[in-house]
Amino acid sequence: MLLDEKDKNIKQLQSSPPVSGAGGLNADAPGHVTGKSIYVDDIPMMEGMVFLKIYDSPVAHGIIKAVDYTTAEQVDGVVKIFSYKDIPGENQIGGIVADETLLADTEVHFCGQPILIIAAENEDAAEEAIHKIKIEIDALPVITDPRVAFAQNKLLSPSRKFKIGDAASAFTQCKHVFEGTAETNGQEHLYLETQGAYAYPTEHDSVKIFSSTQGPTQVQRTVARVLGVSMNKVEVDVSRLGGGFGGKEDQASAWGTMAALVAYILKRPAKCILQRMEDMRMTGKRNPYSSDYKIGLDEDLNILAYETTFYQNGGAAADLSPAILERTLFHCTNSYFIPNVTATAHSCKTNLPPNTAFRGFGGPQGMFVIEAAIDHAAKSLGIDATVIQRKNMMDDGNELPYGQIIKNSEARNCWDEVTGKYDIGKIRNDIIDFNAKNDFRKKGMALMPVCFGISFTNTMMNHARALVHVYSDGSVGVSTGAVEMGQGVNSKMIQVAAKTFGISTDRIKLETTNTTRVANTSPSAASSTADLNGKALLHACNQVNERLHAFIKTEIAGNIECIVEIRDERVYINDEATVYNWKSLIQQVFMKRINLSAKGHYSTPVIHFDKTIEKGHPFAYHVYGTAIITATVDCLRGTYEIDAVYAVHDAGTSINHAVDLGQCEGGIVQGIGWMTMEEVVYNDEGRLLSNALSTYKIPDIYSVPKELTVQFLNTDKNNLAILKSKAVGEPPLMYGIGAFFAIRNAVITFNPASTIKYNAPITPEKVLMGLYNQ
Ligand code: MOS
Repeated sequence: MLLDEKDKNIKQLQSSPPVSGAGGLNADAPGHVTGKSIYVDDIPMMEGMVFLKIYDSPVAHGIIKAVDYTTAEQVDGVVKIFSYKDIPGENQIGGIVADETLLADTEVHFCGQPILIIAAENEDAAEEAIHKIKIEIDALPVITDPRVAFAQNKLLSPSRKFKIGDAASAFTQCKHVFEGTAETNGQEHLYLETQGAYAYPTEHDSVKIFSSTQGPTQVQRTVARVLGVSMNKVEVDVSRLGGGFGGKEDQASAWGTMAALVAYILKRPAKCILQRMEDMRMTGKRNPYSSDYKIGLDEDLNILAYETTFYQNGGAAADLSPAILERTLFHCTNSYFIPNVTATAHSCKTNLPPNTAFRGFGGPQGMFVIEAAIDHAAKSLGIDATVIQRKNMMDDGNELPYGQIIKNSEARNCWDEVTGKYDIGKIRNDIIDFNAKNDFRKKGMALMPVCFGISFTNTMMNHARALVHVYSDGSVGVSTGAVEMGQGVNSKMIQVAAKTFGISTDRIKLETTNTTRVANTSPSAASSTADLNGKALLHACNQVNERLHAFIKTEIAGNIECIVEIRDERVYINDEATVYNWKSLIQQVFMKRINLSAKGHYSTPVIHFDKTIEKGHPFAYHVYGTAIITATVDCLRGTYEIDAVYAVHDAGTSINHAVDLGQCEGGIVQGIGWMTMEEVVYNDEGRLLSNALSTYKIPDIYSVPKELTVQFLNTDKNNLAILKSKAVGEPPLMYGIGAFFAIRNAVITFNPASTIKYNAPITPEKVLMGLYNQ
């Protein structure tokens, strides 16, 4: 496409009608676009604050023989350099497995592993000191490939196996059996706001930390552990994040802990903000996977058997990889029903920064493999993959490999809706037509169904709390455990409170997420933040409502049997408006010394999972959808464009269309980025080569699909979503997987003998090779 056409597209995007009204509330947007939103680095600096810089390992594996920082510590402005020996508590930040130091002691396990913290009066001094540090390391062998690690039995956690039916014997019944391998690479989170924290000492031997974290409680717990103090001495406060995408679920803890450590020991405020290249070098990314598959179909193209083995590249420490591995298994059959499945997963220890959560949390990696297997089968049988996909879509009553029975499936509905609405037959014919007419440009298409389970797979994490204060002037303050990271959860929380009280959203202020106000929070993750915290908030608001209603009955209605309601800020008795509005009601209630605050609690009912047998009912519900993706490949240059993404997405009954649509659009583009242009590259020595924005390309406005339409399948079925508005954070990312297959199909149209592999990302280099191999 020509540049001016692109610009026209951008203008079209910009001129899309704004969504207004309660359904379009976006509490944070005005602050973002006017620059008033506060991030960690915007917090005013306190007197005596020190800046932190981290000295990290220059090699991926080795024994530290000696570290000499005496000269460095003498640099003018350097206050103190901290090593692991300065840690008063435990030198341990591992959440699931205790296998990760805050500061390396005798051995380093990855390039970028923190070894020392430099605290200085200014950043220049800290930077200068870094260059004066001398280190002696005896190098040890470096492993970057998960299969190599597996062969040497280097595992981060015990391997897992999900099993339903008997795949081995089912294969003998299959008419068609296909085997192969599929690979997905990592993905850099590239949140706009880099990792960081700001801490200062408070009285009673305590510390307060402002952290850019998805998991305030995780930071609190880690700080307490490292300082050797109890959790009540650590307060963590989060206003918002400039993006998280999973990269700040666990991996925000290190920087918060470093700031806290320095503040606690020096008794001075301390700030630790990573620069972009430091962030890219020191933090882990989406787990790359290398996987084997074997798929078996009967004569009628029913998938009878599926066997898969996942080799997860976990990096040098477990971090969240064991949980991510689990979600890969949960989603290894995506939207399909397969009666005989054996899925095995290994979390392999390599010498890369510990890989971590990234939107989808292992789900996308699992789904890519089944899609590759289906595509492999279709190509070998000379049919369209969509035939196998549609045929094997799950239905109500089907049992998933982990034991949960499908209820209220929208899998087929989404598929049929999107293929009907956008006339899949015409799209296909247009592509055939185009390809016949063009020698050096080829189009391809793919459909990508998604079925994503909602809940933390670790059942005990599915609970939340909220705190509501109605102030005597009628204004409302809401605190929950939800962290706003651009996903719009603040807007949703305000909507829940406004709807429950029957008042305007203008009356409600969403407070920061703070461990002193709301304790023991699960991280904002697993797409579950609005559900869990929204339900806790609902519970809190309802308690206040009960007291208000009791007051109205006794004090206003005169103790008669009646129906009391507050709507549009007005008190109604038996559907008749009274003279009381919200504000005057609250004043009266306050005068009567009635409690206008409440703490709500919610824990997801129904869910359970037994790891000893790998069976249960781990998800509150599933989110469904299907996307059609089309792409055009330039067969001379290997470049490509995504022409269109049409998705039908099951959002339940969305309470905020604009926010949910934003999540879908962003997720799709992020998924396409992972599948196409984003290429994390480490060399054999474990050094990150794609270490800056000049060498790591993410989608920009010019690489979004020329057409991107998301249609909500407005379902109103019983589910455990907040106000039936289904979770939306992660699922849309996986539509992006379709981009891989659309591009690959175009390549094969040009070169039917192409040996292009199921190896994502499908970069222009790989496309070019695939176009011309014989
Ligand atoms: Mo999210 S990938 O569950 O932080």
